[in-house]
Amino acid sequence: MESIPHPQIDVVAPDGRPQLRELAGELGLDVVASASDSSAGLLLLEHAGRLSLVKAGGGSPVAVEFGGARRTGRTGGSARPMLCRAVGLDRGVRRVVDATAGLGRDAFTLAAWGADVVLVERSPILHALLADGLRRAEGSPAAARMTLVRGDARQFLVEAEPPDAVFLDPMFEDRGKAALPGWELQVLRALLGPGEDAVGDLIETARRVATRRVVVKRPAHGRIAGHKPDASYVGGRVRYEVFTPRSDCGPRNPTDT
Ligand SMILES: C[S@@+](CC[C@H](N)C(=O)[O-])C[C@H]1O[C@@H](n2cnc3c(N)ncnc32)[C@H](O)[C@@H]1O
Repeated sequence: MESIPHPQIDVVAPDGRPQLRELAGELGLDVVASASDSSAGLLLLEHAGRLSLVKAGGGSPVAVEFGGARRTGRTGGSARPMLCRAVGLDRGVRRVVDATAGLGRDAFTLAAWGADVVLVERSPILHALLADGLRRAEGSPAAARMTLVRGDARQFLVEAEPPDAVFLDPMFEDRGKAALPGWELQVLRALLGPGEDAVGDLIETARRVATRRVVVKRPAHGRIAGHKPDASYVGGRVRYEVFTPRSDCGPRNPTDT
């Protein structure tokens, strides 16, 4: 598997937490007994029963939470959130790949509204947070509809069963006020860097494999250079740009002949 460069991260594993030491071994991270023993910029630790990532020197811990009305969008009324409409859940789309799973919020919203979602995340650290969130949510109907995959979505998409839709929420340089709250974004940026450059690739791969649509989440006034959507759903803070699949792009797997 491709290894993702990340800033120095220590795992805080006080005595009696062998699971954390095991995780540190899997991720190739150093272990310290307490946060004050570390000089790393980010710490992976257990906080309130959740595997959490926290900036050294303080700040709110970031963890994955698959539960609660706030996260499902089911805060009242029966209207589906714009995300679900953009992805096409009211038009028969069921099998969705969230190719940039991150902290799993969008994936959870889609699953809570009935989609079967494969979450693909290439950062081993975020994958570990997602796996912990899924473990804690075990038994809930939404969790039963979510499957977690670690790896690069560009590879996954060409190898997996074609989904109805692919959803993308890449980490752009300028995210405006979109998506994640400030402190989570800060931690994500510290972990992943400020921006990504391969979004065009990901959109093109997704368009070759999705059978119904590809949806890209952007800040409300953001643009994706060189990619003109076929439709847009615009909210106050975010927009969802919808792309139709490409049937004229040659073989699904560029290595196929
Ligand atoms: C902005 S975050 C997504 C936030 C997510 N929508 C949520 O609700 O929490 C973008 C994520 O995409 C992941 N990512 C970017 N390119 C990827 C790729 N090619 N394959 C898998 N994951 C990718 C990054 O590691 C990052 O965690």
